[in-house]
Amino acid sequence: MTFWIAIDGPSGAGKSTAAKGVARRLGFRYLDTGAMYRAVAVGCLRSGVDHGDGPAIADVTRGLDLDISTDPDNQYILLAGDDITRAIREPAVSAWVSAVSTNPECRAELVRRQQAIIAGGDFVLEGRDTTTVIAPTAQVRLLLVARPEARLRRRGAELGAKVDAAQLRDQVLRRDQDDSTLVDFQNAAAGVRVLDSTDLTIDAVQDQIIAWARQAGLS
Ligand code: DC
Repeated sequence: MTFWIAIDGPSGAGKSTAAKGVARRLGFRYLDTGAMYRAVAVGCLRSGVDHGDGPAIADVTRGLDLDISTDPDNQYILLAGDDITRAIREPAVSAWVSAVSTNPECRAELVRRQQAIIAGGDFVLEGRDTTTVIAPTAQVRLLLVARPEARLRRRGAELGAKVDAAQLRDQVLRRDQDDSTLVDFQNAAAGVRVLDSTDLTIDAVQDQIIAWARQAGLS
């Protein structure tokens, strides 16, 4: 039987660091579902699709030739064989991606692909709807949160000089607001544990998640 640990939460709560670290420590695969939304945005930008053209964005999503790594130590994502691992983190992509994440047809297609990927093994998967839509039967379902000042500080450190304060607030707070219109990742669904990382070290966050996995039957 497969064992899944699903981690949701807003930007900058520490999802990626926690999810990758836990996967590494347990020898699990890792799926960054947000990277797939970002890859669709890259595909749309490259094919010149209009930000407001929902049906065209859905078409691009369905036709996308995507190859995403599930190795926590070697993350890459290929679009039609082209390595877009760095391109998906560009501010232009971050600004565009809500057009994908708020499109129900895109969500349906990406959820279908994500479920097919995790069916293959033990996974830590991270992203907005992992605990509720992609893997509601996951043995550990977790909402990782942090206070806004901690989230802005962490994303700022990650992005460095690439963005100014206004862009940073836009990326973290405005985007979470937009995404909340379709997926409620700010409040834990029934059966989903909440972990506040604001005052915890990276190791302490991972230890807690692994403790919950053991409680849920992981040997
Ligand atoms: O976690 P991230 O910043 O890389 O996510 C990119 C975008 O995709 C962000 O707008 C949230 C959205 N997303 C989503 O709607 N559902 C997911 N499972 C993962 C990400």
